[in-house]
Amino acid sequence: MARHIVATISEIPPGGNKVVEIAGRDIVVFHVNGEFFALLNRCPHEGAPLEKAACVARLTSPEPGVYERSRVGEMLRCPWHGWEFDMRNGQSWFDPKRVKIRSYPVAVERGEELQKGPYVAETFPVHVEDSYVIVEV
Ligand code: FES
Repeated sequence: MARHIVATISEIPPGGNKVVEIAGRDIVVFHVNGEFFALLNRCPHEGAPLEKAACVARLTSPEPGVYERSRVGEMLRCPWHGWEFDMRNGQSWFDPKRVKIRSYPVAVERGEELQKGPYVAETFPVHVEDSYVIVEV
């Protein structure tokens, strides 16, 4: 897998997303609760763009009349027909063994930690004021 710098963290505000093209694929990167998640920007049902999906909570019911919300913002509800997916791994909520969105590893690294090239030229002081979001494809 190759690493691709796709954004600074300030380009994807909390609750927002950014679509990037990597190796001919549209990938959407979400920023939820301080974490970043990268998924293929295509619903496995009929291909809706997941950048338009609602970021909702997981809702469970341990007994009749009792509802529990968890992982707020980490579940995607497709804009076309409402299928829901786990943003962490792309799995469908109703059929996790058969339906899945392709997901990709994401890292956040400070600019000064990114890999240096093999050659060295005359250098000048540089100040890095932001971190970058990196997707592995
Ligand atoms: S295209 Fe996503 S649920 Fe139908």
